[in-house]
Amino acid sequence: MAPHAEDPIPDSGVDLIQHDASKQYGDWRDEFHKTGVAIVKGVITPEKAAYYRQKQVEWLQSFGLGFDPKDESTWTQAHLPVAFKGGMYFGYGSNHEKYVWEARMEPKVIETFEKLWETEELVVSFDGQNITLPRQKDLTWSPWPHCDQSPHRKGMQCVQGLLNYQPNGPNDGGLIVMKGSSKLFDQFFSETREQDDHEDKPPEEENFKDLFIFKEEDVKWFEGRGCEMIKVNLEPGDLVLWDSRTMHYACFPQGDLIRHVQYVCMTPRKFAKQEDMDLKAELFKTWQGTTHWPHCNIRKAGVPMRDGKEDPHNRTEPIEKPEITHRLLQLAGVEAY
Ligand SMILES: [Fe+2]
Repeated sequence: MAPHAEDPIPDSGVDLIQHDASKQYGDWRDEFHKTGVAIVKGVITPEKAAYYRQKQVEWLQSFGLGFDPKDESTWTQAHLPVAFKGGMYFGYGSNHEKYVWEARMEPKVIETFEKLWETEELVVSFDGQNITLPRQKDLTWSPWPHCDQSPHRKGMQCVQGLLNYQPNGPNDGGLIVMKGSSKLFDQFFSETREQDDHEDKPPEEENFKDLFIFKEEDVKWFEGRGCEMIKVNLEPGDLVLWDSRTMHYACFPQGDLIRHVQYVCMTPRKFAKQEDMDLKAELFKTWQGTTHWPHCNIRKAGVPMRDGKEDPHNRTEPIEKPEITHRLLQLAGVEAY
C-alpha cells in the first residue's frame, strides 16, 4: 500500500477529503460536508447497544470498589475508577477491552468510516469510553467548549465519532456541537487566540497538543457568524461524526439516565507516517490508549491519578482481551494492508 500522488498530504493545510461542494451523496455525508457534523442512524441494533451498556457497567463494577448501578449512594469517586470530566475513561487498559474492540469493529461502524474516506484501509484510535452518572454528588463539572485539533493544523485533518448506547434526549447527557464551526476554524485562528484559562487547559509546553479550549467570547464569535450550538439527540445505536475542528463538549445528564458512549475514530492508513504506526503498535502491545487521532498525534493517554498518586487500582491490561484477528491488527496499525 503506497499513497497515490494525488492524495492530500496531512498537515499541509489541505483538507484530507477533497469534497466537491456540488456533489450530493443522498445520505449523511451531505450533512457532514455541509456542517461538519452528521448523525448516522442505527449502526448497531438497540439490543446490541444494551449489551454494550451492560458491559460498561460490569467494567465499572470489576474494580470491586462497591459501585452499584441501582444504588445511587455508590455513585461517587470512591466507588469508581478515575474518570476525566466525570465520565471519560482512558486508562486501565480499558481502551482495549474485548467489548471496546467489538464496538470499534461493528460492521456498520467500519463501513461508515469506509464510506467517509472511500477506502477500506483504515486505522482506528485507541479511544476511551464515556459513562457519566447523573446526580453524582462529588463531581464538579463545567462546560468546556473545545476542539480536538490544534490551531497549528489547518484544514480538515480528522473526523471524530461516538457510538451512542443510551436514549439521549434534551435532558440527558450528550454531545453539544457548534454546527458549522469547522468551516470557520482557519478564519478564527488566522488571528492570535488565547485559550480559555480553564482547569482542563493543557500546559504551555504541550501547546501543540490537539486541544484548544474556547472562551465565552469565542463562542459568541462563532454564533455571530451563523453557527449554532446544538445538543445532539440520539437513539441507542446511532453514531455521530464530527470534523475535529468543530467546537464541542459533553453536557452533563440532567435526567435519570446514565450516559453510555464509546468514542471511535478511523482515518486512512495512508496518512500515517511509519514512525507513528510503530509507536501505535507499541501502545497496542502494551494495552495503552491514544487520543482521538488514529493516524497521527499518537501519544499515550496519561496514568489515572487518585489523591495525587497513580491509582492503586490501575491495570496494565484489559480484563477481557480482544480476539486478535488480522483485520483488528490492520486497524490497530500493527499489520500492513
Ligand atoms: Fe473533544
